[in-house]
Amino acid sequence: MVATVVTVMSFTIFLGVVSADPDMLQDVCVADLASKAIVNGFPCKATFNETDFFFDGLAKPGLTNNTLGSLVTMANVQKIPGLNTLGVSLHRVDYAPFGLTPPHTHPRATEILFVLYGELHIGFITTANIFVAKTIKAGEIFVFPKGLVHFQKNVQNAPAAAIAAFNSQLAGTQIITTALFGAKPTVPDDVLAKAFQIDVDEVEMIKAKLAPKS
Ligand SMILES: *[C@@H]1O[C@H](CO)[C@@H](O)[C@H](O)[C@H]1NC(C)=O
Ligand SMILES: *[C@@H]1O[C@H](CO)[C@@H](O)[C@H](O)[C@H]1NC(C)=O
Repeated sequence: MVATVVTVMSFTIFLGVVSADPDMLQDVCVADLASKAIVNGFPCKATFNETDFFFDGLAKPGLTNNTLGSLVTMANVQKIPGLNTLGVSLHRVDYAPFGLTPPHTHPRATEILFVLYGELHIGFITTANIFVAKTIKAGEIFVFPKGLVHFQKNVQNAPAAAIAAFNSQLAGTQIITTALFGAKPTVPDDVLAKAFQIDVDEVEMIKAKLAPKS
């Protein structure tokens, strides 16, 4: 009896620890992205066809002529309604020469990154502040555990590209710098000044650079 309870409890805890998106309860549940209903995910559309499971948006390189020299193109449930409840998605990341995907987290998914071409210096930081990094090239893979802060930097004077897979239909992306210095309404200057042990003017300077353009 005790053994059974302990087994059931450990199983429940185990499921809780490893779970990503919840499992589906039917074959398909194509997202009704226009629905006003609020549920965990999206309500299912009554009818669907092959277009709901198709997307060609990752076929071509994205434009990387921006400040950081990188562009993420997402193939998630917002682009492919058929992904709703299936627990997977992809991103394509394009990098200009020496381009950077700045430190960020995906709160809902582990990421596995495959380099299409070029060479990237990539790394993640554990909650014990251990920095795990490596330089990888075309055909190689690196893993970023769920929720941990990570980045990718193109180390060559040539374009690079990668495909990232996630165990979530909508992994979520929170860029650390813009979360802290570009939030709306703004995070108070004194909070950031004390946290980073810098002056309020320096906080204002960084905020001016990272404020959302609108
Ligand atoms: C698939 O359904 C959409 C509406 O969701 C419709 O616009 C489209 O024409 C349909 N495609 C085919 C091939 O039937
Ligand atoms: C990037 O290049 C595209 C196409 O050449 C152009 O339309 C766009 O304005 C450029 N963006 C920036 C930020 O320079």
